[in-house]
Amino acid sequence: MKADTESLLVLKNLSMVFNKGTTQEVVALQDVNMDIARGEFISIIGTSGCGKTTLLRIIAGLETEYDGHALLNGKPIIKPGLDRGVIFQDHRLLPWLSIEKNVGFGLRNGNKAYRADRIKAHINLVGLTGFEKSFPHQLSGGMAQRAAIARGLVNEPDVLLLDEPLGALDALTRMHMQKELERIWKQEEQSDKAETALTMIMITHDVEEAVYLSDRIVIMSARPGKIKRIIPVPLARPRDRDSFDFIKIKDELLEEFHLQAEKYFSYTI
Ligand SMILES: Nc1ncnc2c1ncn2[C@@H]1O[C@H](COP(=O)(O)OP(=O)(O)O)[C@@H](O)[C@H]1O
Ligand SMILES: [Mg+2]
Repeated sequence: MKADTESLLVLKNLSMVFNKGTTQEVVALQDVNMDIARGEFISIIGTSGCGKTTLLRIIAGLETEYDGHALLNGKPIIKPGLDRGVIFQDHRLLPWLSIEKNVGFGLRNGNKAYRADRIKAHINLVGLTGFEKSFPHQLSGGMAQRAAIARGLVNEPDVLLLDEPLGALDALTRMHMQKELERIWKQEEQSDKAETALTMIMITHDVEEAVYLSDRIVIMSARPGKIKRIIPVPLARPRDRDSFDFIKIKDELLEEFHLQAEKYFSYTI
């Protein structure tokens, strides 16, 4: 975590109610408070329906009817912007465009040479050099997700928002992509001054993935969606999944979920 005094992202008394005042009312988020520093890697973990995607969509500027405050670089979030990139579980690449065209699709500004340079650098960053002319259907799931990450980063956003980005991958590819995500995050962090370090906010269902990657893990509880706990992960990188300290934090997280599950069942049985 950067010793940055100014927060990149501030969430203060943030709430989101869908279908307000109707019988269909859903309190998706209630009184969420959090500060995220520039350069941090944050994971959000919690049972299905606890408001994770809603929270990410608010930060992305896709959900604007929220109550409370969501500030990026001190300014209220009211719409999407180039300072934020978003990655979903499915890659959402355009099937009729090559990888380089997909990566360049969202790239704003610049002349031809500048654009080509940007596209090349980001394809290289995600390890897809040589596949510029390939089409999405020619790539494996992991490779397509790399291309989506390149597209998400091509405008050099302050923050990359990832909604279960590795959820559709097989276990081995997933572990490899976790290392790759860490490498990309670090490379973007070191490539420039601290003021431009990349922040990642990732939703995951995978406790081990969260411990492997995060500076801090946000545990959410459902109905209404709230932050239950924030667990710091003060372990050196790259992390050893078999180390005592790693397993200790993983167990702590699992314990939280068992408690949640028990509570859930005692309500529903
Ligand atoms: N557009 C919407 N309209 C009404 N309810 C919604 C909408 N989006 C999400 N919800 C509800 O808000 C709650 C949180 O959803 P979501 O943020 O998708 O949860 P998660 O990503 O943690 O599974 C759920 O009960 C969901 O049904
Ligand atoms: Mg979701």
